[in-house]
Amino acid sequence: MYEILRVEELAPKIKLFEVYAPEIAEKARPGQFIIVIINERGERVPLTITGYDPEKGSITFVFNEVGKTTRQLGLLKEGDSIWNITGPLGNPSEIKNFGKVLCVAGGVMIAPMLLQVKALREAGNTVVTVMGARIKELLFFKEELKALSHRLYVATDDGSEGYKGLDFLKDVLASERFDRCVAMGPVPMLQRVCELTKPYKIPTVVTLMPIMVDGMGMCGVCRVSVGGQMKFGCVDGPEFDGHLVDFDQLIKRQRMFLPEERLSALLWELGGCECDGK
Ligand SMILES: Cc1cc2nc3c(=O)[nH]c(=O)nc-3n(C[C@H](O)[C@H](O)[C@H](O)COP(=O)(O)OP(=O)(O)OC[C@H]3O[C@@H](n4cnc5c(N)ncnc54)[C@H](O)[C@@H]3O)c2cc1C
Ligand code: FES
Repeated sequence: MYEILRVEELAPKIKLFEVYAPEIAEKARPGQFIIVIINERGERVPLTITGYDPEKGSITFVFNEVGKTTRQLGLLKEGDSIWNITGPLGNPSEIKNFGKVLCVAGGVMIAPMLLQVKALREAGNTVVTVMGARIKELLFFKEELKALSHRLYVATDDGSEGYKGLDFLKDVLASERFDRCVAMGPVPMLQRVCELTKPYKIPTVVTLMPIMVDGMGMCGVCRVSVGGQMKFGCVDGPEFDGHLVDFDQLIKRQRMFLPEERLSALLWELGGCECDGK
């Protein structure tokens, strides 16, 4: 059992949990993820590690309450326990002095981007960060990202704060040279960032979140096509060369279980189902 030490609501339906998990805190690196199982009959939910403190023995992660399990997770309070957490999984991010790095984060993935920006900065990079969300109410960690970045841009899909969408990046990319781009967020955002950086041949690393089951390279559910080759998101990633990813196929695979996901959330709302042990 993994005790929840701290719960923070960062934005509507976006929560941060700090959990006592000393073995994971000891080994975790930026870019890696964990798999959380709420109870004996719970499903496996992959979530990115957003912080780790080996001295305290704790890790943090931030999640969006989108479906049955993440909503269920959101009901837990400080002092409650999570049945199982596996990790750290996936490959750590490549962190070194690249020069000038453009970091683009969207939605809930603003949280792990904070860890990336901190690590890239410590490695001596000049870091320009873009944080984006659907609406201004979903922007969080703005002050923290501002303090760590050399420059911070804010964008929202509806234009309620900062730039409207990511098109302003066209001008940024036309006027200055970047050595690397790191992007984390929803697939359409990653796809757009790659379209924008490709003409300038800026190596662009994207964090992919395909549907996963075991997270250890055995089930094959997380298959993604990268440069025409089949890769597993969990063991070959989760970071890949964004200019080689087949985003259209990824979107199709992510929607594969949509009817089942909706049904599961509906049954849970109606008072539980057999698969949840209620
Ligand atoms: C490596 C990895 C790291 C992740 N890190 C985070 C994180 O730090 N914070 C966070 O909030 N979420 C993260 N996710 C996504 C998270 O795992 C899903 O949101 C979660 O599994 C949904 O579970 P659910 O039962 O609540 O919803 P479901 O009923 O399973 O799904 C609800 C909705 O979410 C979508 N969804 C389901 N799985 C994924 C997925 N893997 N990626 C994108 N959309 C999905 C579904 O298509 C559906 O629209 C990560 C996923 C992966 C693979
Ligand atoms: S999640 Fe099973 S192989 Fe990657």
